[in-house]
Amino acid sequence: MDVQRILVVGSGAMGRQIGMAAAVAGFTTAVRDVSADAAAAAEADMRRWLDGRVAKGRLAEADAADAWERLTFTTDLAAAAAEADLVIEAATERLDVKRSIFAELDALTPARAILATNSSTLASSTVADATGRPEKVCNMHFFNPALVMKAVEIVRNPHTSDETVETVAAVARAMGKSPVLLAKEIPGFVANRLMGAVRDEALALYAAGVASVEDIDTAAKDALGYPMGPFELMDLVGLDVTYLIRRAAYEQTGDEKDLPHPLITAKYEAGEFGRKTGKGWYTYE
Ligand code: CAA
Repeated sequence: MDVQRILVVGSGAMGRQIGMAAAVAGFTTAVRDVSADAAAAAEADMRRWLDGRVAKGRLAEADAADAWERLTFTTDLAAAAAEADLVIEAATERLDVKRSIFAELDALTPARAILATNSSTLASSTVADATGRPEKVCNMHFFNPALVMKAVEIVRNPHTSDETVETVAAVARAMGKSPVLLAKEIPGFVANRLMGAVRDEALALYAAGVASVEDIDTAAKDALGYPMGPFELMDLVGLDVTYLIRRAAYEQTGDEKDLPHPLITAKYEAGEFGRKTGKGWYTYE
């Protein structure tokens, strides 16, 4: 299937960057948010990012202008959905919200449109049955920051067709991304399971008083070549997201080893979510 128009639902940290990446790659893209203020803030942020690319000499001025021309920020779901070939839902991680968005999208988009969710915690089978097209529903999971990180996990549910997977993988490649295909749904998918294993070990080392947060991060970076230490990464992703991912995994498996680490729960309850609140494992100005 030939994808030309992409609709991103939700203009938060992920949605705005996914939309920008799609527009830079040549897709006509709409980013929709329920809140006009949120959409305007996302638009201003992406304008700054684009100007920064040009200033750094990473993007030609004409290409930036074309990308901007292809990108719209809106609150009008019906208008944005009417001609979409692919929808990437990046709204809040709540099942009731996602199910109603998928039911609405099913009614508003053309029958050909693929409906993907960027969710890292909710497998697409939990929203596919809110639509009449489960074969066109899958996870298309980007990583933070989505403009930079190359991997995109494409997770099929039991109904997802091969054509859907191939089309979404082709879009990811056109965006300069590397698709990671999952043959079945599993909590955490692949990358977050790998990240979780490193994070759990880092938390265990810190809790046992073996080394400081800073020194564990230094080991990850300067011994293993990771771009960020596990504590820095938790602050980037958000300790709220980290907590909620583990709660969601526990709710799906009932396995106590999937519960959030007590140190994560404490940060979550203290409202210390990382960069977004100015304090997490580190303090930010
Ligand atoms: N948005 C857009 N672009 C950004 C950015 C952001 N938030 N942060 C950095 N960049 C860009 C910079 O503009 C720069 O681009 P150029 O080289 O073209 O100028 C490039 O990224 C490198 O940035 P910096 O030199 O400032 O810093 P860095 O080399 O430390 O890279 C990083 C920053 C890319 C975030 C890097 O530290 C990194 O890869 N960290 C690991 C991130 C990671 O693991 N993400 C996965 C999170 S898990 C997840 O998202 C899944 C989930 O379900 C929760």
